[in-house]
Amino acid sequence: MSAVPGRWPAAFGAAELLRDADRDDGWLLTVDGVPQSYLDLADPTHLEFDYVRLMGDVVDCLLPEGPLQAVHLGGGACTLPRYVAATRPGSRQLVIEADAALAELVRTSFGTTGFRLRIGEARAELARLRPGESDLVVADLFEAALMPVHVTTLEWLLEVRRLLRPEGVYVVNVADGRPLPFAKAQVATLLAAFEHVVLLADPSVLRGRRFANLVLAAGAGPLPVDLLTRRAAGAGGRTRARLVSGQDLRDFTGGAAPVTDANARSSPRPPPDLFHR
Ligand SMILES: C[S@@+](CC[C@H](N)C(=O)[O-])C[C@H]1O[C@@H](n2cnc3c(N)ncnc32)[C@H](O)[C@@H]1O
Repeated sequence: MSAVPGRWPAAFGAAELLRDADRDDGWLLTVDGVPQSYLDLADPTHLEFDYVRLMGDVVDCLLPEGPLQAVHLGGGACTLPRYVAATRPGSRQLVIEADAALAELVRTSFGTTGFRLRIGEARAELARLRPGESDLVVADLFEAALMPVHVTTLEWLLEVRRLLRPEGVYVVNVADGRPLPFAKAQVATLLAAFEHVVLLADPSVLRGRRFANLVLAAGAGPLPVDLLTRRAAGAGGRTRARLVSGQDLRDFTGGAAPVTDANARSSPRPPPDLFHR
């Protein structure tokens, strides 16, 4: 197991591994120039991307403390599974990754200590997983910059929900820009599938000032809203995100309808200059 910088063909574009010039042991994985994962090999608790830090905040707030049973849909370089393995030792984790070439590159470059990496398409694999066992299901599914349409729908969420224990939590990364139509429709869809939903994002993203990631968390049981609000606001961390929940979150949707398999639309394409180095 040893990482080398370079470019390789993969299913959703050219995969590239880049060493971080500013951080010893830091590696960036991109696909067609779009950042997918950042790893610090010496410190798996370092979460470089703000949205992954927010997902980490959700993980940290899950009760009870201790090992988790987790399913990660979309692997990239598996930053978050490595984070869970480090912060919740003994966790049982399965990562499902559709891109076989990318999965092999990640396996040989960085290893898979602390989780199983299965090659498969997320929605197809859901039906094969045992229901009612997961504390955590994470979806971070992007073909380079775009989310596959069939993992944005109410039908998809009802299949995801099946995996969760009654108190289990689903966390998903979405990306959008002004006036956030995709994110609003995704919130409406989560509100149709789950009793409790929160949105975490940088205040400038919520105001639609820039194209960026938003993190949604949902569950059948109550979410740790107060704790998560404090964590997201930066207590002890770098992020300064806002948590939106309750009526504010319903207002955020602006009346958007839930997305279904019949009416799903492609996720928005980021501005062309967003990822220029
Ligand atoms: C942004 S990366 C995930 C990063 C990951 N959250 C981490 O912790 O490093 C998105 C991944 O989703 C994968 N993907 C895209 N569509 C998929 C699908 N339908 N099923 C499974 N994986 C998929 C891509 O190949 C890519 O590796």
